[in-house]
Amino acid sequence: MDLLVQPLKRVIRVEPGANLLQALQAAQVPMSYSCMAGRCGTCRCRVLDGEVMEGSGERQGPLDGSDNFVLACQTYLTEPCTIEIPEPDDVVVHPARTVKATVTGIEHLTHDILRLVLRPAKAMEFSPGQYVQLQFTPAHVRPYSMAGLCGDGSLEFHVRRVPDGRVTGYIAHDLQVGDAVRVSGPLGSAYLRRKHEGPMLCVAGGTGLAPILSILRGAIAQGMRNPIHLYFGVRSPRDVYGLSWLEHLQREHPRLNVQVVLGSGGNPATQRCGLVTDAIEQDHGDLSGWRAYLCGSPPMVEAATVVARRKGIAAGHIHADAFYTQGT
Ligand SMILES: Cc1cc2nc3c(=O)[nH]c(=O)nc-3n(C[C@H](O)[C@H](O)[C@H](O)COP(=O)(O)OP(=O)(O)OC[C@H]3O[C@@H](n4cnc5c(N)ncnc54)[C@H](O)[C@@H]3O)c2cc1C
Ligand code: FES
Repeated sequence: MDLLVQPLKRVIRVEPGANLLQALQAAQVPMSYSCMAGRCGTCRCRVLDGEVMEGSGERQGPLDGSDNFVLACQTYLTEPCTIEIPEPDDVVVHPARTVKATVTGIEHLTHDILRLVLRPAKAMEFSPGQYVQLQFTPAHVRPYSMAGLCGDGSLEFHVRRVPDGRVTGYIAHDLQVGDAVRVSGPLGSAYLRRKHEGPMLCVAGGTGLAPILSILRGAIAQGMRNPIHLYFGVRSPRDVYGLSWLEHLQREHPRLNVQVVLGSGGNPATQRCGLVTDAIEQDHGDLSGWRAYLCGSPPMVEAATVVARRKGIAAGHIHADAFYTQGT
């Protein structure tokens, strides 16, 4: 049975029932992966033609509306089909693992956002924009996005205290410098595409600034010269943070344009007010050829995805991590 891999134009012979990720690996097709368990989204690819099955034995449904994205590690091949993998330059392989870390810093960035710094016992590789699962105790486990780079020697997170939040309540009240934390990952497919040379649209809602800072720092560290347009949306003036970091990054990368957009309580005469999506609409026409990185609350990410698509950014060039609630 044939599997056609685009854009490589390679045909691979596979047995019916073969796992897609394993078939790609066996044929030495460059393909990103991490958790191998359908959790991290790193092995996302697109079915262009033919039907595939998901792990449970049901036909795989599209992950992103009508665009037919699937997770290769959870996908099984039952008939000849054509799949589209990320461009080879985009591939990152950081096998997921768990490392022990120690809390070295907890400080307030705003009235409800904490900066949490961990020192891992062993270095953890990750790409700018990825996240990890932090286990503070067996009952306190949540995903959080790194704000720094993997060569930093420490892991930095920005955690917003959610009213009645179980894990953020634990971090705010119980976690102490010196405590042990288990770090599992890296996870996530909204990582920096280093070979892209066109403009970048970065949209951060609240602590979505953490992975966006990682992406900006990564782009600058890689010597990327792309124009970068950052939209940082916050609820009100007291929720703004990180401006000194952003100013520092602008000095290093003059093509970084920063727009802070206040949801309410701002002064329209001197500050940008409203929705980040409206600000993007006002500032830009056609965005064909751009890449978008969208991080923060699910409604904001969904709204920004709609705007990015409408303005011409290809679905495969929109890299998004919505901060979904876990529930347990
Ligand atoms: C991929 C990913 C990356 C993430 N990265 C970050 C990050 O870098 N920084 C960060 O602060 N968070 C991040 N999160 C969110 C984080 O994992 C937790 O969901 C969040 O901290 C709340 O946890 P909690 O246990 O305190 O709240 P829970 O006890 O799970 O929830 C308590 C109540 O608050 C509601 N709730 C939960 N989150 C929010 C919210 N953001 N706004 C409003 N209501 C909410 C819930 O629906 C529930 O009713 C990320 C989530 C994902 C999926
Ligand atoms: S490697 Fe497939 S979802 Fe993580």
